[in-house]
Amino acid sequence: MWFFRSPEVVFGEDSLSFLSNLDRERFLIVTDRFLATTTLPGLLKESIGSNRQFMTFAGIGEEPNEDEILSSISDIREFNPEVVIGMGGGSAIDSAKIIYALNEREDLTPFDITPLEEIGLGKKSILVAVPTTSGTGSDCSWAAVFSGSKEKRKNEVASPEILPRYSILDPSMVLSLPPEQTRNTATDAITHAVEAYGSHWRNPYSDAMAEKSLELITGSLTEVIEDPTNVFHRGNVHVGASMAGMAFSNSQVGLAHALGHALGARFRIAHGKAVGLFLPSVVKFNYGAVKERYDRLNMIFPKKFRKESLDRTLTSYFLAIGQAVSVKSAGLDGNEYALLIDEMTDLAMESTGVLTNPADSDKGRLKEFFGEVI
Ligand SMILES: [Fe+2]
Repeated sequence: MWFFRSPEVVFGEDSLSFLSNLDRERFLIVTDRFLATTTLPGLLKESIGSNRQFMTFAGIGEEPNEDEILSSISDIREFNPEVVIGMGGGSAIDSAKIIYALNEREDLTPFDITPLEEIGLGKKSILVAVPTTSGTGSDCSWAAVFSGSKEKRKNEVASPEILPRYSILDPSMVLSLPPEQTRNTATDAITHAVEAYGSHWRNPYSDAMAEKSLELITGSLTEVIEDPTNVFHRGNVHVGASMAGMAFSNSQVGLAHALGHALGARFRIAHGKAVGLFLPSVVKFNYGAVKERYDRLNMIFPKKFRKESLDRTLTSYFLAIGQAVSVKSAGLDGNEYALLIDEMTDLAMESTGVLTNPADSDKGRLKEFFGEVI
């Protein structure tokens, strides 16, 4: 028995206005500190309607933090939202998932969110994702990552009940996304699609999402980089990234994510840049295990970027969009990196991506991947 889970997706120009149709009064907007200073929260409120009650929680930093979330929760419970909206990148949306759960069940801590038992959410409110980046796929996932208050380590919790009810993919939310973030988040999405397509847990639904997402992203990303305000191409990349999110949320990622997460735990590097760094090497390593699949994905890339194999195409594509293909070009200190390889290898070994990756690997091979991208 298998499931394909996804939110109801509202996409295209003016899709934010869908929220004005909800027969609900109290809207909580969870967003990050930077986005709170931009015009986007105002745009969102305007689309919902000025006759509604709003509370904005903009206490989220670069990643969700248990303390930040817990400090706000009593005020949020007092407001008693009927709609919890996560507006932002992965951290704002993941925070909204946790806040949604803790608002519904006052006895829960973030660590009580589990897929193993029914939590009983959705009695007071609904959860909505409004992504403002095109890449994380958090709008389509039922997992949330946050750092704990006691330890620095990242925790991941999951439950189908924290899957957003709606994902609103309005291109107006990404038109002002800076070039660097556009590249990094799109690279993350491409990595989601490629890894989902090779994963041991792949299935016909995740395959369909992965193929189409790659077509939409690679068919429009260079156009977006050339003209960031092009609504049509922005819309394609935005929908493509969400579809890639559906693909990996229903099939898992692989070694590029295992290695990229380990790198991200030791260096300050954007998640998309970190996973993209390893993707061509991982694809080359996996080729024998899923050759037909990779050849099919290779044919999806626009002809001008296509090489004889998917790993080569990815390298040439990343170079064409200005994405880092080595530790050096990612701006990291090579000496420091070399010293931390053993530690990062141990971290990567803990990832489920090692298990779902199409080709089997071991600690020695993982260590080689770190060496290959210096
Ligand atoms: Fe990712």
